[in-house]
Amino acid sequence: MIRFVDRRNSGAIKWQQYGDDSLPFWIADTEFATLNTLSQALVKYFKQGHYGYQITMKNNYKENISWWYKQRHSLNIPENWIIYVPTVMCALKLALESFTSIGESVVYHVPCYPNIPKVISAANRRCLEIDLKKNLDGKYVMDIEVMKVLFEKERPKMYVFCNPHNPTGRVFDKQEILDLFNLCNSYGVKIFSDEIHSDIVFGDNKHFSALTIEGADSFVVANSPNKPFNVANLQSSYLIVPDPIQRKKLQASLCYEPANYNLLPLVTLYTAQGIDYLNKELEILSQNLLYLTSEIATLPSIEMTRTEGTFLCWIEIKSNFKISLFDFFKDKGKLLISEGRTFSHNTSNFIRFNFACSPIMLCDGINRLKKCLEEQL
Ligand SMILES: Cc1ncc(COP(=O)(O)O)c(C=O)c1O
Repeated sequence: MIRFVDRRNSGAIKWQQYGDDSLPFWIADTEFATLNTLSQALVKYFKQGHYGYQITMKNNYKENISWWYKQRHSLNIPENWIIYVPTVMCALKLALESFTSIGESVVYHVPCYPNIPKVISAANRRCLEIDLKKNLDGKYVMDIEVMKVLFEKERPKMYVFCNPHNPTGRVFDKQEILDLFNLCNSYGVKIFSDEIHSDIVFGDNKHFSALTIEGADSFVVANSPNKPFNVANLQSSYLIVPDPIQRKKLQASLCYEPANYNLLPLVTLYTAQGIDYLNKELEILSQNLLYLTSEIATLPSIEMTRTEGTFLCWIEIKSNFKISLFDFFKDKGKLLISEGRTFSHNTSNFIRFNFACSPIMLCDGINRLKKCLEEQL
């Protein structure tokens, strides 16, 4: 069973940032309690009451990660490819500093999870964005020819790939990934593959990790149990680096060891119990997605992109608004969404809606959304 939790007044950014009684569907975490085994392990750990330097825990978290990849993604990941990092954005910063120099260009597709360009800029690298294109089926795809022109002109050093994609919910297919890798290889562009949403994929869609691309070595994969298990605050992420030279370079720049509580999520969640939890969660999310899709379909002038993965929906509202969409929904319906303009300069009429919550909360959110829009459209 997955337990829904009331995160009001718990310090959750999603609920408290705006300090009022609005209903939040913005930040990408869930309203689900994590697996009880993890909570129990944390209670035991924090009950010690002393937290001086500790021997890294005996359980080998790398074994759990390797096991998880075998079970969930049918991939054999040698344990020595794995490097602990606190967060995926911290991993991006490390990769930028290891494989690119100040002033060099880094490419990513927009719309884009906003912290990606923020981290690139903070590392004093040049942000080069390129639009995902909507094809005739309404799917967001990469235009390899356009990328090639950009690569030829700008000679970037790194490409940041996000798959499954936040915010569009796209799960790229194997051929698209192969085409991307071929292009990057031919221009000597390293790939940072952010796969943090890879465990949340719906229906017949299948996530192809960069690790499935045979013969490719100029990439690193970043992942974490954050999204499926609601543990972002425990900083339990990791990099997978197949190439020994790149691995050595990254390892040389590390100046920390994980604390044992950072590793508890990996050793308790990447287990058979974790798989049961994830399967139950996927059932709830699939039902929520079905419900959200059918309700949105009843509204005029609204187009929802088909969500293939992630617990995020990307919705276009075809109407003119005098104020930002965030303010519009917050003021009119006490509803908090992520507004499109934070993901790209040309998506201000989009919203991203997080459906990882109880059906009751989702129903309330959809009713608020409909009410706001019925008066506007
Ligand atoms: C694509 C993507 N990458 C990274 C993150 C953040 O991960 P972390 O907190 O581990 O940096 C998010 C969070 O929403 C995300 O959607």
